[in-house]
Amino acid sequence: MTTANTDHILEVNDLRVSFHTYAGEVQAVRGVRFDLQRGETLAIVGESGCGKSVTAKSIMGLVKAPSGEVKKGSSILYNGTDILGYNKKQWQAYKGGECAIVFQDALASLNPTMRVGKQIMENLQGHRHMSKAEAEQEAIRMLKEVGIPDPQERFRQYPHEFSGGMRQRVMIAIAFACNPKILICDEPTTSLDVTIQGQILNKIKEMQRKNNTSVIMITHDLGVVANIADRIAVMYCGVIVEHGSCRDIFYRSRHPYTWALINAVPRLDLEGKKKLVSIPGTPPDLLNPPVGCPFCTRCSYCMDICREAMPESTDFGEGHSASCWLHHPMAPHVDMPDYKAKGESHE
Ligand SMILES: Nc1ncnc2c1ncn2[C@@H]1O[C@H](COP(=O)(O)OP(=O)(O)OP(=O)(O)O)[C@@H](O)[C@H]1O
Ligand code: SF4
Ligand SMILES: [Mg+2]
Repeated sequence: MTTANTDHILEVNDLRVSFHTYAGEVQAVRGVRFDLQRGETLAIVGESGCGKSVTAKSIMGLVKAPSGEVKKGSSILYNGTDILGYNKKQWQAYKGGECAIVFQDALASLNPTMRVGKQIMENLQGHRHMSKAEAEQEAIRMLKEVGIPDPQERFRQYPHEFSGGMRQRVMIAIAFACNPKILICDEPTTSLDVTIQGQILNKIKEMQRKNNTSVIMITHDLGVVANIADRIAVMYCGVIVEHGSCRDIFYRSRHPYTWALINAVPRLDLEGKKKLVSIPGTPPDLLNPPVGCPFCTRCSYCMDICREAMPESTDFGEGHSASCWLHHPMAPHVDMPDYKAKGESHE
């Protein structure tokens, strides 16, 4: 039985999620555990297909039967209560009102046939019980707050009349309209250019500070979260392989997969001199995940034991942990490769 920690607004314990397909059972999330404190930003970082969005969807109650299954034994405690046991009414209050999500593709998430202002108003009226006139005023104020020029005019426009960056700002306004305690951002800036990306992330940060919101920031690019995350969870093949503060991850990482991710961070200042290094090989098939360490087929430090058994998590203190056989007392000593220059550029 899991006991709740009152400092944590959210506690995810042994989350396992599968999809039942014609090809077999896709084990998308295979035992994820993390907690989220009030007002902090936790980044979940990992390559495409590692289970980041499925984790986010599970927290939003968006994994649906019959194909999707959150396995027995998983728990997601929100303020100490397991949301997986919520009834319909509790889900309605939680989604939007307590926890909101901003997806990468705003065009797909927004209603194309409804004026943007009305979409914000719906949340204000539904979750904050405002009158129509109050909601209209507040929606215009929020459009202004997320940095949309001419908010009064923009209020009456449809999503297709907005640029990608502006649509993403609208999504942020919709999410914050319910004053959520938790905001999940699932690759909110991936399709945007670097300048707009920075502006959007700053806006999220600003609104987070104002409302003391806890944020889960999901991305495949470690570079994106260097300046905004308090803690980072590195995910690979449905599990979190390393967890720590930004300094732990960038300066004293203890996992070869994190080393590979750091090495893959693009460096603007080195453009033309040093190309982005991608991680060689491909992640394992989640229809048939390996019994041992999931990184063993791509890891240059792989030992026999790595293929035979999943490594346990080693605790390095102050919330830093990693699951790698290199930390077994009988393993050879290996230091983190020297990525100092890279780390410094992200501090
Ligand atoms: N509805 C579904 N049916 C079957 N498999 C699914 C479904 N949704 C996700 N998956 C599988 O689960 C795994 C994890 O997917 P997920 O979307 O969480 O990856 P991700 O880490 O968010 O990747 P990306 O960075 O590309 O968004 C993938 O192998 C994906 O194909
Ligand atoms: S457990 Fe083995 S294969 Fe996995 S990351 Fe560590 S050294 Fe590499
Ligand atoms: Mg995703």
